[in-house]
Amino acid sequence: MKKIVFATNNAHKLQELRQMLGDRYEILGLADIGCHEDIPETADTIEGNAQMKARYVKEHYGYDCFSDDTGLEIDALGGEPGVHSARYAGPGHDSEANIDKVLAKLDGVTDRQARFRTAIVLLQGDEMHMFDGQVEGNILTERHGTGGFGYDSIFQPVEGDGSTFAQMLPQDKNRISHRGRAVAKLVTFLNQE
Ligand code: IMP
Repeated sequence: MKKIVFATNNAHKLQELRQMLGDRYEILGLADIGCHEDIPETADTIEGNAQMKARYVKEHYGYDCFSDDTGLEIDALGGEPGVHSARYAGPGHDSEANIDKVLAKLDGVTDRQARFRTAIVLLQGDEMHMFDGQVEGNILTERHGTGGFGYDSIFQPVEGDGSTFAQMLPQDKNRISHRGRAVAKLVTFLNQE
């Protein structure tokens, strides 16, 4: 079976990809290849960061590899937090602090349009392939729901019944989510190989 590295330590993401590709590829996480260092993610776009992570693995460990990066883009904030989504409230702060910062910045703002965007970069042999996914939605004025992670409780996708991502079942979220859509394109591509 072909080996491919998913440049992540997120057990949930690994399990999801193993379910979708496990009969064709042995999917290794960063820990599986002994990569315990912090891979630099200093690009100014999500595409750039995904490329940096995949290149790092390919160059240092020699494996074919794919990597993902996601950002929440809020129109009224000029596309912020974007590539800074994970640490919007600063180093050492968690998702709740990130949400508080977004809600404070949007206080009194009526244009609440936003989107999640995911970029996946696949390095296979000498080739690079990119896959993207996005989902349009609105930022609510307060949290709704307890599921999911990150900004899920304040993001209401346009498609749907008015629930936030945090109020949806994981499988319903995955069907329309940024990452779900990008992963579906990656899986289709790898299954054609
Ligand atoms: P990552 O590139 O997947 O690590 O995502 C970067 C940041 O974007 C995360 O730390 C979260 O704050 C946010 N994020 C990514 N995906 C989601 C999602 O599906 N729901 C809510 N927030 C997300």
